[in-house]
Amino acid sequence: MPDCRAPVAVFDSGLGGISVLRELVRTLPRENYLYFGDSLHAPYGTKTPQEVVDLSLQAADRLLSQGAKALVVACNTATSAAIRTLRKTYPELAIVGTEPAIKPAVERHPGGRILMLATAMTVQEEKFQRLKAQYDDQAQIIPIACSGLMEYVEQGILRGAEVEGYLLDKLEPYLKVPIDAVVLGCTHYPFLRGAIRRIVGRRPEIIDGSIGIARQLERRLEEQGLLNPGDVSGKVEFQNSLDEPEILGLMQALFHYEDEAP
Ligand code: DGL
Repeated sequence: MPDCRAPVAVFDSGLGGISVLRELVRTLPRENYLYFGDSLHAPYGTKTPQEVVDLSLQAADRLLSQGAKALVVACNTATSAAIRTLRKTYPELAIVGTEPAIKPAVERHPGGRILMLATAMTVQEEKFQRLKAQYDDQAQIIPIACSGLMEYVEQGILRGAEVEGYLLDKLEPYLKVPIDAVVLGCTHYPFLRGAIRRIVGRRPEIIDGSIGIARQLERRLEEQGLLNPGDVSGKVEFQNSLDEPEILGLMQALFHYEDEAP
């Protein structure tokens, strides 16, 4: 039986999952967290599904060997490719994955026009295609594969001509007809909320799935009797597969980053 004071492990292909970590800390502030960014192997979105499965197993193994009591896969790309294998490998462990927040977007904008930005792998994977098919008769869901976009966040570039030029090229063709919502289907993209807002204008709601993930983690820990009963704030530790001191500084900076726009 794991110790309830043990950390919750959170991992992503790089720094994007820190957008999820921020929400976990807001929702469950007493928990301790161990965040691992696999920046050495980022991006996952251009790899084969089998490579993503192998990298995810390596990351999980690394985190669980440090005594983590639960695992949050804060990466839509890894969730679509690897979550089944992770659950089979660790059947007792509370494992929470991510998926593009299509359901809340459709519930809030029935009949609406919804753009969904994600990596090419997330867009192509059967998991997303099934999710889309489930809601296709309730809204117009337009997936846009944004290969190369997460790399800006990995470099700490969250605004400016280059990233905004990229977003303009990608999104402009869809903006001629008004859109109701933009779903951020990659955990790196919440850090680009301000840049995305400048391109899409004030009208569409920009939605990411972090709150849903935090609530799901809370439920899973509760079910397993693993919520940390302490009454002090937990600690957050950052680790990265890239052996560069600057990367840990960037992780801290993103953790404390305040979004530019709603
Ligand atoms: N943050 C990851 C996601 O949510 C980025 C994927 C990648 O490494 O390509 O999908």
